[in-house]
Amino acid sequence: MTKRFNALIFAAAIGLIIVAIGLGFLIGLNNPIPWILIIALILIPVAYKKFNANSEIVWKDEYSVGIEVLDNDHKKLIYLLNQFQTAYDYYTDAEFERQALEELVAYTRFHFEREEGFMKQSGYPDFENHKKQHESMILQVESFVEKYKREGHESLNEVSQFLTNWLLNHINGTDKLYSKHLIEKGIQ
Ligand SMILES: [Fe+2]
Ligand SMILES: [Fe+2]
Repeated sequence: MTKRFNALIFAAAIGLIIVAIGLGFLIGLNNPIPWILIIALILIPVAYKKFNANSEIVWKDEYSVGIEVLDNDHKKLIYLLNQFQTAYDYYTDAEFERQALEELVAYTRFHFEREEGFMKQSGYPDFENHKKQHESMILQVESFVEKYKREGHESLNEVSQFLTNWLLNHINGTDKLYSKHLIEKGIQ
């Protein structure tokens, strides 16, 4: 069940309660039912918030690789992932969804190239292995983009899960391994 569907259900429930409150007061102000419904109306947003636990990824200091420009890239990737997740969850517009996916893929490529440039220029010993991880991720993403072109919206949940897990694990694992070397070589 998508968040958009949940939002519609909650909006419909609010509408019904408001109508029931109006009808209840028509019977008389001593009628307890509309007063109970008013309390329910106040509690609905709280329940909605809890029901729709926030899946937004939040940047944490522990993700830092200690190099500002690369941290900023990683922050932007997290922002684009969240934007992509919102596009999937609310499915308001196929064009917005496609653009969010394209933007995320394009920035991932851009970031990988920047990171590889730093590793290469500084003679990072594990450069080839790191680059291979980037390349296999890009191949995987390209296959997802093709799948999206064939299957549309429903294929995006898999893409979102994969990108979120892969990027967070990569940033927090493989990327951190280059920190000491790059910083020692004067890259900031
Ligand atoms: Fe990275
Ligand atoms: Fe990387």
